[in-house]
Amino acid sequence: MTLAERYGRSLAAVVPMESPINIERGEGAYLVDRDGRRYLDLVMGIAVNAVGHAHPAVVRAVAEQAGRHLHVYSGTGYQEAVVAYAEALLADIGPNYRVFFGNSGAEAVEAAIKLARAATGRQAVVAFRGGFHGRTMGALSLTASAARYRSTYEPLVPGVYHVDFPAPTRLGLPPEAAFQHTVQQFEQLLACEVEPDHIAAVVVEAIQGEGGYVIPPSMFLPWLRQVTARHGILLAVDEVQAGMGRTGRMWAYQHDRIEPDLIIMGKALGGGLPLSAMAGRDDLMDRWPAGLHGSTFGGNPVAAAAGLATLQIIRREGLVERAATLGRRALEALEPLRARSDVSDVRGRGLMVAVEFQGVDAPTHVERLVEASLRAGMYIHPAGIHHQVIRLMPPLNIEEAVWREALGTLRRLVEETAGR
Ligand SMILES: Cc1ncc(COP(=O)(O)O)c(C=O)c1O
Repeated sequence: MTLAERYGRSLAAVVPMESPINIERGEGAYLVDRDGRRYLDLVMGIAVNAVGHAHPAVVRAVAEQAGRHLHVYSGTGYQEAVVAYAEALLADIGPNYRVFFGNSGAEAVEAAIKLARAATGRQAVVAFRGGFHGRTMGALSLTASAARYRSTYEPLVPGVYHVDFPAPTRLGLPPEAAFQHTVQQFEQLLACEVEPDHIAAVVVEAIQGEGGYVIPPSMFLPWLRQVTARHGILLAVDEVQAGMGRTGRMWAYQHDRIEPDLIIMGKALGGGLPLSAMAGRDDLMDRWPAGLHGSTFGGNPVAAAAGLATLQIIRREGLVERAATLGRRALEALEPLRARSDVSDVRGRGLMVAVEFQGVDAPTHVERLVEASLRAGMYIHPAGIHHQVIRLMPPLNIEEAVWREALGTLRRLVEETAGR
């Protein structure tokens, strides 16, 4: 039996299989299959491996911590790896926050919802259409990037309201008009459906990930910060996909110079191991007393050691600034695609890069493009509410020549797979 056949017999089919690669190992920016074929991995575990596969310093940190202890429940005693990582994260976020560690992005979202309810005594939560926040029932209630993620599981957690994200291409509006549209929807929500003093939090991605790498107009997050502060509503920014240096700032909200109340982190945070975190302003953490929340594996020391090693590499090698530079190069390289009538946008911030297609054929074009890329030895991912977007999330330390060549390949394949 092949590995694929054994998989089919032993694993749930609910997770769609995206490629037929029999993965043997990962090496830097590449996946290597059992026959030794190398694939340039521009997905990286969905924006997880910020410094590539099996970075020696990360592997060393994992081995060292594993040799000390693999796991101790976070409430059992004080652990250097965990404290050191929280301190390192706060060095970028700010000293007036504290960190709660979980295992997955969805769990960090759950923690944010719980803290928001506990700290404000309010129930409602507002999120945005096109947003993805995870698949556990609370996080799923906020997720609105595809109806199929939600419908089968309803009823979801009550008290969640959605408004349109200011996504210009999705709304078919220029950026300023898209922003005004969102403002209007938000004001109508407060006037018609839920009074502001019933809203515990607004949860928002600084850049929508699964929704198609959508960068909101620059006035959006500052406005949201202002309007939430005015009503005593907590602003929770979901940085699970955009965070850890990928966008050219350590945290994507830092482009907009706002101070969120809660920051939700995951994916790259664990350096390849399952780890997430929710940082909250310390006066809010003071209103979340001991015993109200917890997790067996949250704050696992091996994951914390891997995450800390990753963060140290990112800082030491200047990978945040590098992400900004390589991102600019990508937009220049992909710019010619804008001239195509089937391309509605080429956009990105740092190494969150996307090409959006338009027209009824867009999702099938994207599907063909993903398949053709794989045949060319390059693994890429779709995004967008109709899977009409290609998103690229290379490791932040990808070699520049490799990145340039990959963008050239993508351009060529867009031509070759169009309208067939
Ligand atoms: C922005 C965002 N939030 C939350 C999640 C959920 O993370 P996880 O799959 O680790 O639960 C994701 C996953 O893609 C995400 O992109």
